[in-house]
Amino acid sequence: MNFEYTEEQLMIRQAARDFAQNELKPGVIERDEHQTFPAEQMKKLGELGFLGMMVSPQYGGGGMDAISYVLAMEELSKIDASASVVVSVNNSLVCYGLEHYGNEFQKEKYLVPLAKGEVIGAFCLSEPEAGSDATSQRTTAVDMGDYYLLNGTKNWITNGNSASTYIVIAQTHSEKGHKGINALILEKGMEGFTVGPKENKMGIRGSDTHSLMFTDVKVPKANRIGEDGFGFTFAMKTLEGGRIGIAAQALGIASGAYELALNYSKERKTFGKPLSDHQAIQFKLADMATEIDAARLLCLRAAWLKDHDMPYGSASAMAKLFASETAMKVAVEAVQIHGGYGFVKDYHVERLMRDAKITQIYEGTSEIQKIVISRELLK
Ligand code: CAA
Ligand code: FAD
Repeated sequence: MNFEYTEEQLMIRQAARDFAQNELKPGVIERDEHQTFPAEQMKKLGELGFLGMMVSPQYGGGGMDAISYVLAMEELSKIDASASVVVSVNNSLVCYGLEHYGNEFQKEKYLVPLAKGEVIGAFCLSEPEAGSDATSQRTTAVDMGDYYLLNGTKNWITNGNSASTYIVIAQTHSEKGHKGINALILEKGMEGFTVGPKENKMGIRGSDTHSLMFTDVKVPKANRIGEDGFGFTFAMKTLEGGRIGIAAQALGIASGAYELALNYSKERKTFGKPLSDHQAIQFKLADMATEIDAARLLCLRAAWLKDHDMPYGSASAMAKLFASETAMKVAVEAVQIHGGYGFVKDYHVERLMRDAKITQIYEGTSEIQKIVISRELLK
């Protein structure tokens, strides 16, 4: 493993940093307050190639490696985790899933516009009664010959209203359990497909989380990804990479909160000296910086393994587990270092603290990451 970034990786990191400062930071507090989806910013991120970063140029993507993706996700998430979750879902769940498991027809029709950032995608696995327990799919896709008849409800879907292309996981052969599940591509506007109201959330409030309802939606057979019954394996394989994206998001939230706390500790004076001269504050900063570095190394290791076509499921679970726990701890400490100022919106750290929480929940809770890691250890 090389500890130096390439020129290209450094350029991508700088471009993401500039974008976050110039385009995401203005208005981030208001978007959070009013739950406004960063539509303009997404359009620009798409034009800059951040929505299909790792997709091959043959399909309209940037052809970048997963290390570059981690660097970009960290920079965007330092400033706006509501925007970065859109980047993560589009890149590592939707585009990855289509590029690696879709057929040529599906890639041309769906992947190309997604990779170019012309449209946004959503990944729909969770249901009201199937979150962690993802094999318990209640949504049914009945085989009708040329098409599947889809019925059911998906919950908590990121980009639920702003997406145009949806990958929906559903049960076709219930007697086969997880081996009877399929992954289908849906388009917004298909008859019988409705988007529920927007969730009013604690954090990542600018992102667009909805339930989705399917009533007798006819999905052409041509829109099934992979062989009949491949849907659960598809979801699990895709989530292995998705978790690198969320780990990098958590890393960004942690490093964003840390940088704010570090700067504030040098400016704010108590008892005649800057906060940063008090050893209690220095030790907090030392702990924060150490854990952030460890989280970054875990993210980069998972990305490196993925880039080298080596197994990375357990490494990505470790990265997500550690980085999300770090994000929560560091953001709480960043608020503490800011004192009362940390409790108000203008200083950004309270938002980062609220945003940190979701990284311990979505794409598999911390407890689920421990299941994934321990099963690998004990196998
Ligand atoms: N790759 C390939 N196959 C895998 C796999 C992987 N990484 N993980 C599991 N499988 C296979 C297993 O081998 C098994 O198949 P066989 O029986 O043929 O061997 C099958 O899948 C079922 O696996 P388990 O028996 O391990 O199933 P389980 O019921 O014990 O659950 C689990 C496994 C890991 C807990 C899984 O249910 C899980 O990951 N749950 C969390 C769901 C999740 O992460 N949801 C995220 C939704 S997307 C999202 O959240 C996006 C966002 O917010 C932005
Ligand atoms: P549950 O599975 O009910 O878990 C409740 C608690 O019990 C958790 O702490 C969990 O860790 C624990 N628990 C459950 N089982 C075990 C066990 N076996 N051992 C130990 N502890 C256990 N899903 C999508 O498919 N697509 C999306 O785009 C998406 N975006 C999301 C965005 C937001 C803002 C949110 C809140 C969720 C999103 N999700 C999405 C859903 C998310 O992945 C689930 O919420 C998550 O997987 C947990 O499922 P659950 O909420 O049903 O909790």
